[in-house]
Amino acid sequence: MGCHPAREDNGPCARIDLDALASNARRIRRKVKPRGLMAVVKWDAYGHGLIPCARVLERAGAAAFGVSSPQDGVTLRRAGITQPILVMTDWVGKPPALFLDWDLQAAATSWYKVEYLEAVSRKLGRPVPVHLKFDTGLGRVGLHHSQYRSALRAITKLPHLKIAGLYSHLAYNGPQDQARGRRQIEIFEKIVREAGRLGLAPRWIHLANSAAAVAIPDVPGNLVRAGIALYGQPPSAEVRGLLPLDPVMTLTGRVRAVRRVRCGHGFPDSHFWIAPADGWGAEVGLGFGSSYPRSLVGKTSVLFRGQRRRLVGIMSRDVCYVFTGPDRPEPGEEVVFWGKQGRHTLYLFELAGLIDALPYELPTWLKPDIPRSFLSASEASEPITSVHNIL
Ligand SMILES: Cc1ncc(COP(=O)(O)O)c(C=O)c1O
Repeated sequence: MGCHPAREDNGPCARIDLDALASNARRIRRKVKPRGLMAVVKWDAYGHGLIPCARVLERAGAAAFGVSSPQDGVTLRRAGITQPILVMTDWVGKPPALFLDWDLQAAATSWYKVEYLEAVSRKLGRPVPVHLKFDTGLGRVGLHHSQYRSALRAITKLPHLKIAGLYSHLAYNGPQDQARGRRQIEIFEKIVREAGRLGLAPRWIHLANSAAAVAIPDVPGNLVRAGIALYGQPPSAEVRGLLPLDPVMTLTGRVRAVRRVRCGHGFPDSHFWIAPADGWGAEVGLGFGSSYPRSLVGKTSVLFRGQRRRLVGIMSRDVCYVFTGPDRPEPGEEVVFWGKQGRHTLYLFELAGLIDALPYELPTWLKPDIPRSFLSASEASEPITSVHNIL
């Protein structure tokens, strides 16, 4: 599978650089040592392709994987992944035997789930390994930290539950969140100490997401859960300078048609955008049908011949328009909407910031039918077995 000028429709394509993925993983591992890396591959590896990414990440030394459903966990096992897999969300109501049959671990983020997993482990005659999550201040999911003593004590009385991990999630997107992060760290450390005092001794302790893994050298735990940084995207501008990361996904479209544009005239027509100078306009084969946000039109640039050029005018389902200034485009030439072109990069946090979105959203919005072209992709060419029919 490839994206090149010979594509008949000059349509969009997401190039996935698996070498960049491997080198980001190794950089993060070096940075967080002696902690291990849990590679978060939720949402189809943030839209990059679950199986090819997981295979590369395992080879690059990931100690564990975080997935969003048991189905994804089974998919990884069938693809040959052997490291521990934590099902972080979306498992209630799925057949519990999956956890034991496929060697998956379950996140317990509420007392209801703790009791459910105790009952399941009793019924199956073997414990499902559980990672117990406390809310230490994010205010999202997890047992609330104010009840940590009673919760941990109650857990020691559940005979079938096996606590394999203890974790929390920082409300941390970079050094600007330092004070809040520190408060959460203190609370988490208290919980870990109490668990130890009660003899719970979980094998895995984890708190850091990408931003914390990169920005807080003494973050507690023996594992970090990194997602977005693996894919070469700093979660925020503040994190960008702290660790070099190589963007993994590059979203491209191709020039379909070229037009001379006169200063003061509209492009592509007179209703939307007026050229500030004489130059060239390109009609490019990518539109909102790919789930590229139409709201970026008029606000962002794209990369063309290594320069930032304005995305102007309107966007239809399959087409958008770029003013390339003095450079006359050739039909079939590549335009980059995010990712890298030569030495230049358009980061997701830059685009997301223009439309009040999160960098996480953009690649996960991309339609699955946008061709993914895997570079350095020996792993990607292995057959992939669908598990949809067994769940
Ligand atoms: C519990 C948990 N940990 C870690 C991550 C990874 O976060 P990031 O992509 O910011 O590294 C996620 C992402 O959704 C998550 O839900």
